[in-house]
Amino acid sequence: MMTEMWKDLVSRVFMLVVLLLSSFFTAAIASSSQDLFNFETQQLIHADLSTRLSEAAIPEAKNHDLLSLFSPENNQPKSRRQTAPQPACKTYPSDPSWPTESLWRLFNILLDNNALIKTVPEASLCYPEWAGPSFSAAQCQTLTASWNNSTLRIENPTSIRSILFQGMSCMPPAYNAAFLGYTVPNCTVGGFPEYTVNVSTVAQIQLAVNIARELNLRLVIKNTGHDFGAKSTGKGGLNVWTHNLKDYRFYPNYKSATGDYRGPAFKLAAGVQVFEANAWAKEYNVTLVGGEGKSVGFIGGYIQGGGHSPLTSIYGLAADHVLSIQLVTADGQFVTADAKTKSDLFWALRGGGAGTFGIVTSMVVKAFPQIKTTTLTYNVSTGGNFTKEKFWAMQRAYVDEFERLADLGYYSYYRIRQHPNVSGELYHDMTSMVAPNTSAAEFKAAMAPLFHKWAEIGVPYDPVIRESDNYSDAWLAAFPHEVWSWAMRQASRFFPRENLVDPEKRRQAFDAVKGVVEEGANMVLFNMRNGRPGANTELIDNAVNPAWRKVLMFAIMFVTWNVTDSPEYVTQLSRNLTYEWNPRWKALTPGGGTYMSESDYIEPNWQESFHGDKYPRLLEIKKKWDPLGVFYATNAVGSEEWVLGETIMGHLPSQNSRLCRK
Ligand SMILES: Cc1cc2nc3c(=O)[nH]c(=O)nc-3n(C[C@H](O)[C@H](O)[C@H](O)COP(=O)(O)OP(=O)(O)OC[C@H]3O[C@@H](n4cnc5c(N)ncnc54)[C@H](O)[C@@H]3O)c2cc1C
Ligand SMILES: *[C@@H]1O[C@H](CO)[C@@H](O)[C@H](O)[C@H]1NC(C)=O
Ligand SMILES: *[C@@H]1O[C@H](CO)[C@@H](O)[C@H](O)[C@H]1NC(C)=O
Ligand SMILES: *[C@@H]1O[C@H](CO)[C@@H](O)[C@H](O)[C@H]1NC(C)=O
Ligand SMILES: *[C@@H]1O[C@H](CO)[C@@H](O)[C@H](O)[C@H]1NC(C)=O
Ligand SMILES: *[C@@H]1O[C@H](CO)[C@@H](O)[C@H](O)[C@H]1NC(C)=O
Ligand SMILES: *[C@@H]1O[C@H](CO)[C@@H](O)[C@H](O)[C@H]1NC(C)=O
Ligand SMILES: *[C@@H]1O[C@H](CO)[C@@H](O)[C@H](O)[C@H]1NC(C)=O
Ligand SMILES: *[C@@H]1O[C@H](CO)[C@@H](O)[C@H](O)[C@H]1NC(C)=O
Ligand SMILES: *[C@@H]1O[C@H](CO)[C@@H](O)[C@H](O)[C@H]1NC(C)=O
Ligand SMILES: *[C@@H]1O[C@H](CO)[C@@H](O)[C@H](O)[C@H]1NC(C)=O
Ligand SMILES: *[C@@H]1O[C@H](CO)[C@@H](O)[C@H](O)[C@H]1NC(C)=O
Ligand SMILES: *[C@@H]1O[C@H](CO)[C@@H](O)[C@H](O)[C@H]1NC(C)=O
Repeated sequence: MMTEMWKDLVSRVFMLVVLLLSSFFTAAIASSSQDLFNFETQQLIHADLSTRLSEAAIPEAKNHDLLSLFSPENNQPKSRRQTAPQPACKTYPSDPSWPTESLWRLFNILLDNNALIKTVPEASLCYPEWAGPSFSAAQCQTLTASWNNSTLRIENPTSIRSILFQGMSCMPPAYNAAFLGYTVPNCTVGGFPEYTVNVSTVAQIQLAVNIARELNLRLVIKNTGHDFGAKSTGKGGLNVWTHNLKDYRFYPNYKSATGDYRGPAFKLAAGVQVFEANAWAKEYNVTLVGGEGKSVGFIGGYIQGGGHSPLTSIYGLAADHVLSIQLVTADGQFVTADAKTKSDLFWALRGGGAGTFGIVTSMVVKAFPQIKTTTLTYNVSTGGNFTKEKFWAMQRAYVDEFERLADLGYYSYYRIRQHPNVSGELYHDMTSMVAPNTSAAEFKAAMAPLFHKWAEIGVPYDPVIRESDNYSDAWLAAFPHEVWSWAMRQASRFFPRENLVDPEKRRQAFDAVKGVVEEGANMVLFNMRNGRPGANTELIDNAVNPAWRKVLMFAIMFVTWNVTDSPEYVTQLSRNLTYEWNPRWKALTPGGGTYMSESDYIEPNWQESFHGDKYPRLLEIKKKWDPLGVFYATNAVGSEEWVLGETIMGHLPSQNSRLCRK
């Protein structure tokens, strides 16, 4: 009996090792001419693995002549499922083919550095059955109080922001999701991945991809976990956690593959966050097109999804400035994608969405000159003599200026919310308006007509206008450290220029936004255009959503609730977003779209909304580079071939369920 089990295990290890090694050799050569980070030079080499195996202190690695298999003859990529029928579902812990504990131990040895982490949900420390003797109510209290602190969640291998879609299977007890019918707070791994590879080398990423592919595991990539669509989690997953890859390099005079760009550039590793990149940019006296969000990853979901920035009205999107990409593809190869090499991947990875074409290890992005930057911040609440009527007059006066201000290169990110403290009132904060390459004096002159109107209306606000001689410091002061909320849903739409220039269409757009606020939603609104006229961002040949190029207002509606609210109420609220409110915006913007990274989790016809006419080409590239479906993420290119088996509140696909082929 025991012998049979060993034999089975050994033969599985044997198979796996053959397959894992199958594609390493060509890979190493392909990128040898690139300027790699140290961690990128550490690629999967059979000799390293064989040494690790021979030193392994577990019997299944030793009792067999496995090492004889590490021969160069076996270097042809030949995945067993390329020819065999595809399994219907990914493999889950309760399945017979789920890897044994021994196999996981062996993976950890092959990965080196104890890089494999078995998932312990972050909030499990609040549950004695998980925490054991080290349980401490005080620690749980601290965790509960800081549950909205994104920094702490980012540092955890599996915590994510959009925990609702994970199933909220392990929350601090104070935030137990009663609205999901959970009566007694408890803690399960649920929709979190089962294991994480805390990667510090490309070899580990290659190995993780090969393991996931050959064992038919759901592969998850978590960078920061910011994704609103919970694309960085998944039940039964093997999670590649890129957060600790922090390298960077500055090139004062980088030459792109085609030679059509020569100038300053940064190479950034997968784990770099916007606040780090902006600090380095300042150090080298340049500017990077990074997002507003400080702790968002730079080259993960942000840039691969397009990436808008306070600089978008002058420079377009972050994805428009990528010069070269290093990545691990679904076959485990480590490759370069640029305008000359694997140019289809290069095209798709610039705006076509993350988590579906490969695991990017670094990108080279253009850097721009240092510019002085002016910002404006203020807030107002309705109440007293500042009536809602005056409030909406203030808003309308601003929207009337959208075209002029965006055409000056300005950007704004502002919110209109149901007042958090005063029932029935509204709260509006200009998180920041950003005027790049503009002095405070120039800014005040440009804003004078609007400020004058606001004075006439009697807007009780106290504007803070700051000028910095560099963008990095302006951005640092202008945007908050982001907070992660966990009982929230959103939906969004681009309002193109034509909807805001024509007075009648502008009135309709405005009323459509106002109407949804009046029915209880909150807004995050952006005024920006996509690049300078004449910069021809629409001609940049990448996978960015064509609808981005016409934007003048990007509108996000969101709803929040209390975890103790009733299931009926929350379900209705959530359904309203998708089925009542966003359709009104869509009706005004036919053929338009929205931004995949800040959209409805169940966006209808997401292919069209996120990609427009670029979808067919993206799908073709997906099928070419990932024919077995190794990479899956919610609403990512190719994900329509898959379905999650269960839903949350009857309408939201649950990451805490099996992922199967349709
Ligand atoms: C507070 C906040 C502020 C934001 N501000 C902005 C903003 O100013 N501009 C803007 O455009 N967007 C903004 N976003 C949206 C943001 O771009 C997305 O949430 C994005 O998906 C985050 O990417 P990440 O890599 O940090 O997060 P993750 O959630 O870890 O990853 C997101 C997706 O990318 C995949 N992924 C991550 N790393 C890699 C990799 N190396 N290779 C391949 N796939 C990878 C993951 O699998 C997942 O599918 C903001 C979001 C939040 C929550
Ligand atoms: C984060 O949560 C703490 C504790 O609940 C609260 O005091 C704080 O106001 C929250 N922060 C924000 C910005 O909501
Ligand atoms: C969030 O946590 C980080 C890391 O512990 C800490 O430095 C920061 O001050 C916290 N932020 C807030 C708003 O409490
Ligand atoms: C534990 O919570 C899950 C949801 O995470 C729920 O389905 C289950 O009924 C709960 N079990 C108990 C014993 O409370
Ligand atoms: C992940 O690996 C890094 C080294 O790359 C290490 O510093 C860090 O402590 C590890 N994190 C966890 C949670 O194991
Ligand atoms: C930084 O760049 C700006 C704009 O290119 C230039 O005017 C300035 O002299 C530079 N400063 C330093 C210290 O290099
Ligand atoms: C509104 O009320 C404030 C005091 O709350 C007062 O200072 C202000 O003058 C009033 N404005 C108008 C237009 O009545
Ligand atoms: C709501 O009240 C809290 C607690 O007093 C405060 O911190 C917060 O700033 C208030 N929010 C607004 C928008 O006034
Ligand atoms: C900044 O504005 C000046 C004119 O005021 C212009 O010459 C320069 O090109 C602008 N710089 C950038 C980076 O847009
Ligand atoms: C609103 O602005 C005032 C200054 O007008 C500032 O004191 C206050 O902190 C701001 N409120 C919030 C919640 O940011
Ligand atoms: C960036 O701008 C700030 C604010 O104007 C200034 O204090 C700082 O010295 C500047 N730093 C650099 C490197 O230009
Ligand atoms: C959530 O509901 C609980 C119980 O009804 C209540 O005590 C708490 O104040 C509510 N919290 C918020 C933020 O509304
Ligand atoms: C949902 O929308 C309908 C129609 O607009 C409205 O009557 C209802 O109050 C809304 N419900 C919630 C919970 O927002």
